Amino acid sequence: MSDQSTPPEQTPESPTLAGPLDLPTTRRRALLWLIRIALAVFAVAFMIPALALKTLRRGRKTVEAGDELVYAQGSNKGSAVNADELAAGSALHVFPKGKTDDSDNLIELVHLSEGSPSIVAYSAICTHLGCSVLTNLTDDGDIPCPCHGSVFNPAQDAKVVAGPAPRPLPSLPIDIHDDGTITATGGFDGEVGPD
Ligand code: FES
Repeated sequence: MSDQSTPPEQTPESPTLAGPLDLPTTRRRALLWLIRIALAVFAVAFMIPALALKTLRRGRKTVEAGDELVYAQGSNKGSAVNADELAAGSALHVFPKGKTDDSDNLIELVHLSEGSPSIVAYSAICTHLGCSVLTNLTDDGDIPCPCHGSVFNPAQDAKVVAGPAPRPLPSLPIDIHDDGTITATGGFDGEVGPD
C-alpha cells in the first residue's frame, strides 16, 4: 500500500521550484530595481538644488516701482541720492532703499555729458560673468567692466561696445523729483547678470 501523504519527489529541474534555473531572472529583476532606484536618487539630487534656487529667487526683493534710490557706498551710504550732486559725465552706485542685501539690485546711475534724459540707470551687474561694472567711466563716457574688458554705452541703452558681454546692461526706469531724490518707476527691463 502506498503512502498518499508523501509529496511527489521534486528534482532541481522541476519548473515549479525556485531553483538554479530562476536565478538569472531574479538577478535581472534585482538589477533593474537597483537601476530604477539609482535613477530616482539621481533625479531627486538634481531637483532639490533647483527647487531651492527657485524658492530663493521667489523670496528675493528686487527693485520695483516706487523704490527710492540710496547711496550704495561712502559716507552717505544708505541715505537718499541727491541727483544735483551727480556731476555730468560721472556715475554712482546706488541701491533701492531697503533692498541692499542683494547685490543683484546694485544700480549704476550715470549723468550723461549730453543728451536727454540726462540721468540714466542700469543694472551694475555685468552680463558677461556677473562682476560689478565700474563707476569710473572711460574717456568716451562709457561704463567699463574690470573683469574681462566689456564696455557699455550708457547713452545708447547700455549697448555693448567692447568685450565679451553678450547683451546690454538691463535698464531701470527712474523718476527724478524736484528735491533731487530719485525713485524707480519699474523694475529692470531684462535679466540681471549672466544668462
Ligand atoms: Fe564683465 Fe566679464 S564679467 S567682462
